Amino acid sequence: MPFVSSCPESGFNIRALESLFADRMPRLAHMRDAASFAKDLSGSFSLPADHARLLIRSALLHDIGYASALRRFEYHALNGALFLEEKGEHPWVVEGVLRHSQADRKGGRLPLVSEHYASRPPLAEADWLVRAVTVADWRAAGVGKRVSFARRFEDIATRNPDNPGKVRQAAAMVNEVRDSFLEWARDMATERRPLPWVFCDVDNTLIRPGDGLSDANKAAVKAYVAAGGAFSVATGKHPLSIAPLVLQLGLNTTQVAGNGSCLLDGNGITVLDELREAEGALRAALESRGLPIAVYRPQGIETGGQWPASLDEIFDRYGEIRPSRTRLPGAALKILCIVDGDDLRREEELRLLAAELGVDCCRSDRHFLEFLPKQGNKGQAARTVMERAQWPVLHSLAVGDTENDELLFALCGACAAVANAGEWTRRGADWTIGQCADNGVGVFLDRLRLGSGWAGLRSGMTF
Ligand SMILES: [Fe+2]
Repeated sequence: MPFVSSCPESGFNIRALESLFADRMPRLAHMRDAASFAKDLSGSFSLPADHARLLIRSALLHDIGYASALRRFEYHALNGALFLEEKGEHPWVVEGVLRHSQADRKGGRLPLVSEHYASRPPLAEADWLVRAVTVADWRAAGVGKRVSFARRFEDIATRNPDNPGKVRQAAAMVNEVRDSFLEWARDMATERRPLPWVFCDVDNTLIRPGDGLSDANKAAVKAYVAAGGAFSVATGKHPLSIAPLVLQLGLNTTQVAGNGSCLLDGNGITVLDELREAEGALRAALESRGLPIAVYRPQGIETGGQWPASLDEIFDRYGEIRPSRTRLPGAALKILCIVDGDDLRREEELRLLAAELGVDCCRSDRHFLEFLPKQGNKGQAARTVMERAQWPVLHSLAVGDTENDELLFALCGACAAVANAGEWTRRGADWTIGQCADNGVGVFLDRLRLGSGWAGLRSGMTF
């Protein structure tokens, strides 16, 4: 089939989206996130530029039929497709909108709508694009934000508590869409990179605090790397704290530290983002509440005024470098606050404080609440690591156990949670693997290696 070219000026004027969705901004946010995922798909699968442009455009417009002004039938996919066709949009873009996320299956069951679908045979040459738009749709949350497949389903289930039929349908579909991605993902493997890049959290995922690295996990990481896989730790720890672990594992990749606020490699520490002026305000607000804090800087960790000596033991147990009582120079990478996760009121108050100061806040452990710069998260950092290595961003797997792994789960091609992870984290993961204490990571890596990476992965697998 000769490729039908389309000049960017033809078709719908993208600038009109804002006004079409003035009353539905979350939907537009979802469409934009789907487009940004489609961009990663295009890059990761090295699509030709023309194909990439059509895919990204179709992902951006896939839900345009939800705009009230375009309402013709009781069905958004058909409304959107008819509108775009009239605007002279490329037929592949129209096809993506018409059939994304099995819209043709659903539409085929609706009166009037089904007649339209029956009169339009599927465009075989755009089948890949429909599949890709569907994947992008399932990696963008309903209210806008990139998510894992599993979190996307959770999001649908939470928003539709009174519609068990819809939730059941979504549960079946997320598995189908994930499997379609997993099958396609095999194409990302090459001789130079046969296995996905694994980004693995450390505490309670790879290592149980208090224990060292187990021989089994160490052997599994080494075997994975020897088989051509890439492996990086992605941790909230200070970069200096993980240097011995990196040495033990024999890694020569770049590591994600400080919860994604910095990277560690052979050349030292690279700061990706810092708290800047929010640091002072945060310190004051947390210390005025009597909370112990520790400020992470490239050269070390410095304690706040309320830090009791007994907390040093917790740091020792977690394998974190000893914090200094004196002020250190340099950027504030993150602020760690010691506050119990069971105190829900305090948690809510502190999360509000973070939002007011324009920083991110996430829990990395029962005791630890962290305040992070907006661009300093594990997901963004893993992206930087892969882009620098010219590695396809979706040719990656995330493994973790807690909220601060969420953005890493959202970024990578797929994700797994250890069995000891919190329920919320497990529900947002594509697979639950064994407990940290049972070397769950090592077992997972061995299965990946022996199953030839993506080829051995399917929805619903147990490890
Ligand atoms: Fe959508």
